[in-house]
Amino acid sequence: PYLNTLAQSAGKLWFGTAMDTTTREVSDSAYMTVFNDTQIFGQTTPGNTMKWEFTEPSQGVFTFSEGDETIALAKATGKKVRCHNLVWSSELPAWVTGGTWTNETLLAAMETHIKTEVEYYGDGCWSWDVVNEALDSDGGFTSNVFYETIGAAYVPLAFQYAYEAVQSLGADIKLFYNDYGIEYSGTKHTAALALVQTIQGWNNAYIDGVGFESHYSTSWGASKASQLEGMSDFTELGVQIQVTELDVGCSSVPCSTSDLATQAQIYYDTVSACMDTEECTGMTVWDFDDEYSWIQPADYDGEGDPCLYYSDLSRHPAYTAVAEAIQGI
Ligand code: G3I
Repeated sequence: PYLNTLAQSAGKLWFGTAMDTTTREVSDSAYMTVFNDTQIFGQTTPGNTMKWEFTEPSQGVFTFSEGDETIALAKATGKKVRCHNLVWSSELPAWVTGGTWTNETLLAAMETHIKTEVEYYGDGCWSWDVVNEALDSDGGFTSNVFYETIGAAYVPLAFQYAYEAVQSLGADIKLFYNDYGIEYSGTKHTAALALVQTIQGWNNAYIDGVGFESHYSTSWGASKASQLEGMSDFTELGVQIQVTELDVGCSSVPCSTSDLATQAQIYYDTVSACMDTEECTGMTVWDFDDEYSWIQPADYDGEGDPCLYYSDLSRHPAYTAVAEAIQGI
């Protein structure tokens, strides 16, 4: 079964995958054969290369070549690109984190960064994750240079700058807020709903959608019912949803038989929740090959193999589960 073909036949925009042109992936021809197959993946998200440290390593010096590579790869195989991301606490260059800022100077730097990047990539981007992971699990704002200097207004202001750039291009580029732990009810979910409303109420800002990262593990995943409810809380505000970074780590590797079953179930539940939510428009896994996942056992206390394919590119049982979830089987 071909996941993207199935998803598009069922009315979704795509089933897609993240990939990272800075890693060995692009020179791994077996990996690239799967990546390039538009029947399997109809969309891609650059895992790293459009982040601030890559795109504006020194103030006012922009390097777009890595992101260009993603857009070229996508174009060559008919994929849309979810561009990721404009403002985040992480992967910031030292001139941003270590700078001496006032409200005014940091806002100016943020506006320049956002507008230059959005205008450069233009409609090569189907969407932008304008602000990434602004919230803590307690529902407060994550401490970072933007929050410390500008306050909570940095979020709607970022959306305002992105919207102004999109308007000046005359393009239809969707603007998203992207986060994890907002997929089901709880303090962070409630805070994210409020944040969407703040952006919606802001003068000349716009938000099209919310990205549910959906990083799970076999020791913990959200049920289909809780994800359905989580999605409807947002779609009631008039925004679309996308599953943007789906993966489910096995608590140890190699995955045990029971972990593989649990992993398949969590993939199934997440995809099924999206399929049953009309305004959930697309699903993306955070890479498809265990070899290149960000979750490696050495870094995550033994957790690993969270993807749909093992390192030898044979498929986890979760692959079939996803295909069935898309088809409503
Ligand atoms: O490319 C260099 C390589 O040359 C070097 O040898 C190696 C040594 O550490 O580092 C490599 O860069 C790493 C890069 O991933 C590529 O593997 C960076 O150190 C590492 O920080 C970077 O991590 C990325 C992380 O975001 C931070 O940007 C992960 O790949 C990426 O999967 C992860 O993605 C995030 C999303 O953006 C937001 N949501 C959560 C998600 C997972 O953490």
